[in-house]
Amino acid sequence: MSGMFITFEGPEGAGKSTNLQLFAAALREADCDPLLTREPGGTPIAERIREVLLSHHEEPMSSDAELLLMFAARAQHLEQLIKPALAQGQVVISDRFTDATYAYQGGGRGISSQRIGVLEDWVQGSLRPDLTLVFDVPVEVGMQRARARSELDRFEVEQSAFFEAVRNSYLQRAAADPQRYHVIDASGSLEQVAAQMQPMVARVLERWHA
Ligand code: TMP
Repeated sequence: MSGMFITFEGPEGAGKSTNLQLFAAALREADCDPLLTREPGGTPIAERIREVLLSHHEEPMSSDAELLLMFAARAQHLEQLIKPALAQGQVVISDRFTDATYAYQGGGRGISSQRIGVLEDWVQGSLRPDLTLVFDVPVEVGMQRARARSELDRFEVEQSAFFEAVRNSYLQRAAADPQRYHVIDASGSLEQVAAQMQPMVARVLERWHA
């Protein structure tokens, strides 16, 4: 038995976390109870690594340290939570996963995709998400939403060039594999975004009930 692994991605302020809750609610209405989780994080140890990654430090964090911590958290998350749930046939929805590493550490920080790919293969083996929803908004819109929300974390204080690179990486990855990725225009109203998610809800339920 193997479940289904779905990831929600997008730059800051794209509304992916709110929409993840709506997506999960739509699945529950059809008797499919997904496991919701997030990255970096998802288990107690991985959440502690998240704190190190997102908080501000006097000492600058090297890009390689950041990359390796992302994958350290991911290794823990996979072993403790994601793989056991998939093995039991559950639908797992993660708020971010390795596409975020390609977008932020790759596009944003400039680490090569080949280097990230080595860690991806090492930590995940052949495991990849079955479906990835990319919530896309213009950088300025996303940054304004993020700034209005709360105190900015270590990533959110980056400049717009960083987030343009993040956004472009997501869109390039999505364009290269339209089977797995579904880009959602997240600049509209909640209703407009929900309407774009609907075919994906149907796709998951079709597979779930098969
Ligand atoms: P969020 O959960 O509030 O979106 O914050 C997580 C932050 O971590 C976000 O700024 C993106 C960043 N991140 C990476 O840089 N690389 C990764 O691999 C992941 C999972 C997240």
